[in-house]
Amino acid sequence: MSETPQSADLIVFGGTGDLSMRKLFPALYHCDRDGRLAPETRIIAMSRGGLDDADFRGKVDAEVRGSVPVDDLDTWQRFLDRLHHVSVDIGGEDTTGWAKLTALLAGHEQRSRVFYLASPPMTFGPFCRELHRAGLVTPASRVVLEKPLGRDLPSAQRINDEVGAIFDEEQIYRIDHYLGKETVQNLLVLRFANAFLEPIWNSLWIDHVQITVAETVGTPGRRGYYDHAGALRDMVQNHLLQLLCLVAMEPPSRNDRESIRDEKVKVLESLRAITGGEVDRFTVRGQYTAGESGGVQVPGYLDEPDNTAPTDASHRVETFAAIRAEVKNWRWAGVPFYLRTGKRMPNRYSEIVVQFKDVPHSIFPGSTPNRLVLRLQPSEGIKLHIMAKEPGAGEVALKPVPLSLSFAETFTTRVPEAYERLLMDVLTGNPTLFMRRDEVAAAWRWIDPILGAWESYGTAPEPYPAGSSGPAGAHELVSRSDRAWHEEYPA
Ligand code: BG6
Repeated sequence: MSETPQSADLIVFGGTGDLSMRKLFPALYHCDRDGRLAPETRIIAMSRGGLDDADFRGKVDAEVRGSVPVDDLDTWQRFLDRLHHVSVDIGGEDTTGWAKLTALLAGHEQRSRVFYLASPPMTFGPFCRELHRAGLVTPASRVVLEKPLGRDLPSAQRINDEVGAIFDEEQIYRIDHYLGKETVQNLLVLRFANAFLEPIWNSLWIDHVQITVAETVGTPGRRGYYDHAGALRDMVQNHLLQLLCLVAMEPPSRNDRESIRDEKVKVLESLRAITGGEVDRFTVRGQYTAGESGGVQVPGYLDEPDNTAPTDASHRVETFAAIRAEVKNWRWAGVPFYLRTGKRMPNRYSEIVVQFKDVPHSIFPGSTPNRLVLRLQPSEGIKLHIMAKEPGAGEVALKPVPLSLSFAETFTTRVPEAYERLLMDVLTGNPTLFMRRDEVAAAWRWIDPILGAWESYGTAPEPYPAGSSGPAGAHELVSRSDRAWHEEYPA
């Protein structure tokens, strides 16, 4: 990465939306505060909002300032001064917005130009065509595609074709913000910068792997999106599968853009397909009902406040999914990868648990197998649970104790938000942590049969009360083979 930040124009479509306000602008402010944005860099928000620059800066001031550490007002003002707003008539007759954007960008063709599409996926193709028609796509341009990239393989291919007709593959950055999380980065370092793990990182030593992304939030106000997405498309197709890839991939030959992505694709292509009636044995889906979460009574999914009333799709959509996946290759033959994600769970945490096998021959009663826990959030860290002898004379008593690394305690520097790293990677042109077209396709290829079987078998998701750890089926999924979910919280 270059030391001196290069000037850039970052054009954000969906620039007044939830993602922009909650994630992108706070992340950009942090980058600015740390001196990682060149003085001339501009951030241009595009929306239907009908705002001018002053209105937009006022909106960001009101909605973002409270969520970031503003230690001096000059820095905050410098950030606000970078912001511009262009109202655009999406798919309409009025072209004044495009003309205004063209005028703003004119004369800055040498800067790196990033079009960030934080808008619904059906707008990706039309926006790219419009940018091309207006002559705004320069050789130094890049486009960022927010998830979800389609709702199945054919729709993802269509979007990729449409965007690919305007931008070369090297210019396309498909974002999965989980790849920007600090502990996810650390997983690569843990595996490939330490020699001791590799010899035991396989089916000879590992019994199974668990990947959990649990959220306490529900989906108020998101029905329009969530009814048609559900946990499988929203979380598993991207975030959880990416984590699985990083755990299961072979050591890449280099830490560069293609080597890592090549290895991830191989993992996705090795996933054993789950088809037809197998969904009953290998997958579980649930939908939360009313319950107590975070000490307050919350409504069920169907009663979440929203502008639209629940439909048939709302009754069928899953807010929780658990899957027993298998990676069919030499390293992982016979090792289940249990994936689990849900809304309105008792605690918000994401973690990867690598459960080792028991010792081949135990000479002590009460020993339990080792377990490596990588906590992605909150309290990022790594714990290796090992057996130790409890102090004392007499009978040897064993106790599992954690060798624990807390990032907050070990490194005093602030842990950056995933979007900070990823935005800087886009601005500097590093696509390593972004998904390549074949990766997205391979992920959908595995997800589609599950979605298809869920639809054709017509079973409804299992209800689970908000604040519980998911439907009973999720526990059966693991207990069937005498295993249990790792439920240690807080870490
Ligand atoms: C997003 C999903 O991609 O990730 C949301 O659309 C989810 O439904 C979010 O809440 C979780 O991200 P994080 O970083 O808070 O774990």
